[in-house]
Amino acid sequence: MKKTAKYQTWIRIYKLLIFLIISLLFLLGTLLPISFFLRILSGILALPFFYITFILTYSLYQFSAFGGNYQSKIHDLMVAKVNWDGEGKILDIGTGSGALIIKLAKTFPKSCLTGIDYWGGNWEYSKAQCQQNAEIEGVYNRIEFIKASAAVLPFKDAEFDLLVSCLTFHEVKDKSNKTEVLKEALRVLKPSGEFIFLDLFADEKIFGDQKKLLNDLRKNGISEWESYKLADEMNLPKLLLNKKVLGNAMIIIGRN
Ligand SMILES: C[S@@+](CC[C@H](N)C(=O)[O-])C[C@H]1O[C@@H](n2cnc3c(N)ncnc32)[C@H](O)[C@@H]1O
Repeated sequence: MKKTAKYQTWIRIYKLLIFLIISLLFLLGTLLPISFFLRILSGILALPFFYITFILTYSLYQFSAFGGNYQSKIHDLMVAKVNWDGEGKILDIGTGSGALIIKLAKTFPKSCLTGIDYWGGNWEYSKAQCQQNAEIEGVYNRIEFIKASAAVLPFKDAEFDLLVSCLTFHEVKDKSNKTEVLKEALRVLKPSGEFIFLDLFADEKIFGDQKKLLNDLRKNGISEWESYKLADEMNLPKLLLNKKVLGNAMIIIGRN
């Protein structure tokens, strides 16, 4: 039987299960032989946990291939934004299960690609899975997967022609200043090389003021950039536009 590549969604199943279990425990509390007040309190406390469980389950469905396939559609949008002749080196920062980099490998058959990720235990992705997916998709010989942190990339300055990263910078815990993480990414981009980053850039708690962020990057050397709200670039189901899902997602495209 022909094997098919396995790309997990951005929703962590263990997280969903934790919220589900807490909701059910609070619901159970409403049935216990305790005071009426405590039973009501337990029911009220269950509500936000049920809400988060619902949002996570709905997002899981919409992102996966058996549902709305939005994760793949978002990667397609990023690939479609690439404006490059396709000869040279591509780096994907936080490659997950390799979905985006494998699409790029298929789109640019003359490119050499690298995917890095720290593949931490709280994600359901792994380097072995990336390698297996690349093999199944027939692009194994052009992609290298390396375990590393986006905070300190194991590359020389100006090594890559194209940089991509999807929903990773906000996850980098080993450097709290996310502007520094973006600068580290741009360090490895060639002069006039292109970058396409999708992340929750509109969330000021994570990335600070957007104008300041772009100004800092400009001072760091980026010569051109454009930024778009993801919601303006594609039709997304309303619930995916929840601030806890993709409501703050933006694409920043530019050149060094
Ligand atoms: C939401 S997932 C996105 C995965 C992939 N970019 C995609 O679009 O399918 C976030 C990814 O960031 C990775 N990540 C988190 N912290 C990281 C770090 N410090 N360095 C590199 N990758 C990291 C996680 O392992 C995970 O694969």
